[in-house]
Amino acid sequence: MAKHSVGWITFQKRWLLKLFVVFSMSTAIALLIRAAFDSCDRHYEDTENGIHLAPQIGSIKNPLDFMKSKLVLMVSHELSLSALDFFREVSVEIAYVTASSLYCGPLLLMELAFLLRSVGAEVVWITNQKPTATDEVVYSLEHKMLDRGVQVFSAKGQEAIDTALKADLVVLNTAVAGKWLDAVLKENVPRVLPKVLWWIHEMRGHYFKVEYVKHLPFVAGAMIDSHTTAEYWKNRTRERLGIRMPETYVVHLGNSKELMEVAEDSVAKRVLREHVRESLGVRNEDLLFAIINSFYLLSTENYITAGVSRGKGQDLFLRSFHESLQLIQEKKLKVPLMHAVIVGSDMSAQTKFETELRNFVIEKKIQGRVHFVNKTLTVAPYLAAIDVLVQNSQARGECFGRITIEAMAFQLPVLGTAAGGTTEIVVNGSTGLVHPVGKEGVTTLAKNFVKLATHVERRLTMGKKGYERVKERFMEHHMAHRIASVLKEVLQNAKSHPHS
Ligand SMILES: *[C@@H]1O[C@H](CO)[C@@H](O)[C@H](O)[C@H]1NC(C)=O
Ligand SMILES: *[C@@H]1O[C@H](CO)[C@@H](O)[C@H](O)[C@H]1NC(C)=O
Ligand SMILES: *[C@@H]1O[C@H](CO)[C@@H](O)[C@H](O)[C@H]1NC(C)=O
Repeated sequence: MAKHSVGWITFQKRWLLKLFVVFSMSTAIALLIRAAFDSCDRHYEDTENGIHLAPQIGSIKNPLDFMKSKLVLMVSHELSLSALDFFREVSVEIAYVTASSLYCGPLLLMELAFLLRSVGAEVVWITNQKPTATDEVVYSLEHKMLDRGVQVFSAKGQEAIDTALKADLVVLNTAVAGKWLDAVLKENVPRVLPKVLWWIHEMRGHYFKVEYVKHLPFVAGAMIDSHTTAEYWKNRTRERLGIRMPETYVVHLGNSKELMEVAEDSVAKRVLREHVRESLGVRNEDLLFAIINSFYLLSTENYITAGVSRGKGQDLFLRSFHESLQLIQEKKLKVPLMHAVIVGSDMSAQTKFETELRNFVIEKKIQGRVHFVNKTLTVAPYLAAIDVLVQNSQARGECFGRITIEAMAFQLPVLGTAAGGTTEIVVNGSTGLVHPVGKEGVTTLAKNFVKLATHVERRLTMGKKGYERVKERFMEHHMAHRIASVLKEVLQNAKSHPHS
């Protein structure tokens, strides 16, 4: 394992550069398209209330067009500290492009803000807590928003209150953002609630706190990333807090255009694959099973639980992997050399769990077959390098699990726990195979490793089926259409129950 730490930093830098080339091309294209749309919008605005003669680009009709001239207030929870560090490390421009493709919670909201701006909505952004007003990174991000015509206000000022009262729609991002309502709006809360859309990405007990979510029953709607999570919120709010969920909409996430461009570029994929395999000391013909937990920053929760943790199931993954090697030996099966890769490790954290994983590997003498990779925000190279993704989240699983649809975009079969969002993404037997959570799942997963190792055709077909499924349902434009239909309903609800 010492082998791949040598030169790793240079490797990462090199690839960051490479990735930047890939991304900067797609960004340039995206900017061109945006510029075209922007000038189109201006044309729209210039026509005032007259007949809109501005040309549509091709036949693309933006599903969010009805948001034109609506006033939208967006309430974001803070950018997490690790996100800020990441932005500081690389230039803001690269970080923005890279991280937005991963849908950091605040960045996902920012993308929605830009989408709404592009159809001529008026958008005001407030951040619940800013680390420090003078922070360079926060400043750059704010400027990025100002450049796109998003107004940025302090969360606590009178402007925020006035905007909340005037707005057609208020989007609260994450459960934690609920604290803002009472703290700032005070006696005005009841007037604002009927036009609030609450976007929730969390699924852990400590978010079911009255102080965060007591106003939930009275908002116009809640938007949640998976049906399983929505069900869970319904149960928990009723049973633990005795409150009812408002109208709840499930909106699955979609793959960004940037990620799809890498996934569909066979040259980029080959380059990344060779680089990563070389750095791990793995041959091209070897078979790589990986569990990847980049820190997604999708929400405060994801940030806390990211990386290596029992909830993500890396321990059970290693046990299954070891069991599969034994099975192969016992049955004298002819399969390629198998490796397990764990992305999202952080030895500097020195947790008991991390040590336990490493000790297991030593004890079973599988050091040559198991590779730990430090946590990273950039998953594309690993997706390009591996053969099978394992989604081994335990207990209730993932709220959605973005990595699953990202892996499918790279034509990888997924071996996943039958829990959480995974069950809504992976079709058992077609795009991957599911196994039970907990210790009961270990043997099934081990057998699934062997199945995919011995049946090359089946493995490749599953990857292709996964890719088709992503193209059918988990793309950015699917998400945009769904969000548009939610916004439409929420605006209608707001109109029919003013000042409830
Ligand atoms: C991973 O991170 C740790 C500390 O954060 C560092 O000591 C180690 O060199 C890194 N490993 C690699 C392979 O870069
Ligand atoms: C919600 O509660 C019902 C009955 O109380 C139960 O059958 C169901 O499994 C629960 N769903 C979740 C997601 O916890
Ligand atoms: C998943 O599919 C496999 C094979 O197609 C099957 O053996 C297994 O029982 C299925 N598991 C579930 C939970 O449906």
